[in-house]
Amino acid sequence: MKQANKTIILGVTGGIAIHKSIDLASQLVKQGYSVHVVMTENATRLVQPIQFQVISRNPVLLDLFDIGSDWKPVHIDLADKADLLAIVPTTANIIGKMANGIADDALSTVAISVHCPILIAPAMEQHMYENPFVAANMQTLKEHGVEFVEPVSGDLASGKQGMGRLNTVEVILERITQMLQTPKDLDGKRVVVTAGPTREYLDPVRFISNRSSGKMGYAVAEAARDRGAEVLLISGPATAAPPTGVETRYIETTLELQDALLEGFDQTDIVVMAAAVADYRPQSFSANKIKKRADQLTLPLEQNPDIAQALGKRKKKGQITVGFAAETDDLLENAQKKLIKKNCDLIIANDVSAEGAGFEGDTNIVTLLDQNGNCEQLPLLSKREVADHILDRVVELILS
Ligand code: CTP
Repeated sequence: MKQANKTIILGVTGGIAIHKSIDLASQLVKQGYSVHVVMTENATRLVQPIQFQVISRNPVLLDLFDIGSDWKPVHIDLADKADLLAIVPTTANIIGKMANGIADDALSTVAISVHCPILIAPAMEQHMYENPFVAANMQTLKEHGVEFVEPVSGDLASGKQGMGRLNTVEVILERITQMLQTPKDLDGKRVVVTAGPTREYLDPVRFISNRSSGKMGYAVAEAARDRGAEVLLISGPATAAPPTGVETRYIETTLELQDALLEGFDQTDIVVMAAAVADYRPQSFSANKIKKRADQLTLPLEQNPDIAQALGKRKKKGQITVGFAAETDDLLENAQKKLIKKNCDLIIANDVSAEGAGFEGDTNIVTLLDQNGNCEQLPLLSKREVADHILDRVVELILS
């Protein structure tokens, strides 16, 4: 696919994972992007600029005072035409400079001059990654909309194992492509996504819950954000990291989820309910820890409200509700029943017992059912890809 009209500034800092940014530059050029590399001085100690120059077929910016023959400062010219600034690898040093508006070399100056989205891919030793000052700087960048390709666990430069290894070129490339190619077809839409499990407390230390990791809902929230929507993510206690650029509200119980969903529902265009909601809660909550007494304990449970069904009744023309049906048997039959009972516009049938589908993993296998009898079966996909398919269908429903 030709991307000739898109310009990427690739910022390269002095991390030991710099070889991955050579590969990344080469892949971006192959995909047709116009790539301009800006290197820090430390990066040039690890790799000669000529390597990036040959790969990118553009001059490498190293020094702001090296302005050549043009009257215009190169970094401003570059910053003006960039569609994306990607810094790979991203050291703790450049993160610290960006979070504090420091511009003392070419890359940090470009970083405060661009008016395009910024993507960073941190890579550092685990202790540096977990250092509270570095963590606070990363949080500042996230709050200001800088996108992250988070590092992974694995071998580090020190020879130790731990968190902080630069993510793979494939993942970074996919993120760049998403950021540059995603259609803004949900621009102006308010989307609410629910995710994760709910917890129903028996006493102050015990609760009934389920295995939901929240990853599917988080992927939908991320995908909706990338398509220009204003997103509210209502999450149970999930293990997944919340996406950046999305307002996240945490709940624990089904009743709290209900309150959070009903508030603002009338102003919401699309609700995607990926949360795994507890259908029952203990009839009574014991303020003190329940003590062990008899051999057996019977816990009376009472039914929670069906929130999806309530929204299905309340929704007005133009509002879209999407439900998930997590099943282990009779997948399509059960999903079809839920589609009707909950008056959803779309139901995502999810056989949680299938290999590669359901809880905790990064992939899913789903079938999309709508009110017109359409039944679209998707192959094994990443949860992010599933999320994009769901939103493609939602956009079609809005337009129909
Ligand atoms: N849901 C809900 N309120 C509930 C239970 C479920 O809003 N009390 C929503 C879920 O978020 C999901 C859809 O309804 O989008 C289907 O959830 P699921 O647990 O598969 O179905 P249930 O209605 O609980 O039916 P069952 O447990 O009998 O399969």
